[in-house]
Amino acid sequence: MKVAIIGQGYVGLTISAFAGEHFEVVGFDSNPRIVQQLNSGISHIEGVESSTLQMRIKAGRYRATNSGQDIAGADLVVIAVPTPLTKEREPDLAYIDAACKTIGENVSIPVLVVNESTSFPGTLRNYIKPAIEKYSQNMVEHLYAISPERVDPGRSDFNQKNTPRLFSGLTPEAAEKTREFYSKFCDNLIEVSSPEVAEAAKLFENTFRQVNIALVNEFAQIAHSLGISVYETLDAANTKPYGFMKFTPSAGVGGHCIPVDPTYLAAVAEEHGAPATFIRRANEVNLEMSEYIVNRVQADNHGSLLGKSVLVVGVAYKPNVADVRETAAELVIKHLRDRGAVVSWHDEVVGSWHGESSAPLSGADIALVVTKHDDVKVQDILASAPYVFDTTGKVPGAKGL
Ligand SMILES: NC(=O)c1ccc[n+]([C@@H]2O[C@H](COP(=O)([O-])OP(=O)(O)OC[C@H]3O[C@@H](n4cnc5c(N)ncnc54)[C@H](O)[C@@H]3O)[C@@H](O)[C@H]2O)c1
Repeated sequence: MKVAIIGQGYVGLTISAFAGEHFEVVGFDSNPRIVQQLNSGISHIEGVESSTLQMRIKAGRYRATNSGQDIAGADLVVIAVPTPLTKEREPDLAYIDAACKTIGENVSIPVLVVNESTSFPGTLRNYIKPAIEKYSQNMVEHLYAISPERVDPGRSDFNQKNTPRLFSGLTPEAAEKTREFYSKFCDNLIEVSSPEVAEAAKLFENTFRQVNIALVNEFAQIAHSLGISVYETLDAANTKPYGFMKFTPSAGVGGHCIPVDPTYLAAVAEEHGAPATFIRRANEVNLEMSEYIVNRVQADNHGSLLGKSVLVVGVAYKPNVADVRETAAELVIKHLRDRGAVVSWHDEVVGSWHGESSAPLSGADIALVVTKHDDVKVQDILASAPYVFDTTGKVPGAKGL
């Protein structure tokens, strides 16, 4: 069986690596640089080893392409393209639309199309199917299914094999073929009654995290105003063996999922006349965290950051990855610069970002830790500036939330 996977990023390449053990995989990506790199056996994604890629290429089980014609003979097509927000912070289905165009214009025999991109309930039925039909001029009747991706890049305890996978088809045949495909490399498949349930479940999982992160971020501010340690209080609450799940405060939420997916849920809810006030407020609390932190740092430094050299430590959105999408560091740096601070950042995992390079971990007036990668030593952070503020709870001896 030949499988075409549209989008070779975190999700698409990960699936390609697993599926390539059993099927011939064509990885279609619109970025020619990524295609060239992948075809020379170099992975750009944490969790997909270059050696695995090289093995698949050698066995004739993997090749990347940016030519739509190369997906023509596929039996199954997986969509794994970005679903970001527009400038107005609304769902942006432009990449999904482009993927539908590639499929519609190139796949002329009936296949199974599975969407793995995260989107709102109704996307498969009301958007993807009609779009592919439009682009193929209604010439082909494909099968359609959804199986939302749950991969957590950089994580080693849960992967494609042992993370339970939801799925549903627009028809029983689509669902059955989806089960057959994923059962080759996933141990636990859970079919739900409609694609809309699968789509909504994925959004709700990340909304659950978003609102709990917002709650703990608000609680960090309450704890500080009460003069008690937020961390000690959370540890104390966490001794309850049921009904509590510990989340920790931070400079805000980053990444492509938690700051984005709840907005997809809120948008579709509001379209159906159901207010999503809780989700909207949680988003605001998380976005406001950066300003709260900069206020705290300013207050500790005689009320002014003007002309102070501030080193932001860690700009990736989470530890041990190079991904900076929606990183909280962005807003932290903006607020610092707005107040006249001279800002540089240290993050050897990210390396370069916005045309700037990682600065040495030393010589600043103020160090502000946003993300702590495992390789960065606590004593080096503490030695980098006379005043260190930590938003991660991982730098004992620093000031912090
Ligand atoms: N990264 C994760 O941890 C994760 C987890 C669960 C779900 N998701 C969801 O999966 C989807 C993909 O996310 P990702 O993290 O893999 O994104 P990504 O940015 O890492 O990769 C997307 C890839 O798609 C390519 N692309 C864009 N438009 C294309 C097109 N029209 N045709 C072909 N290729 C195209 C890009 O060049 C890029 O390489 C999103 O909906 C995301 O929300 C991501």
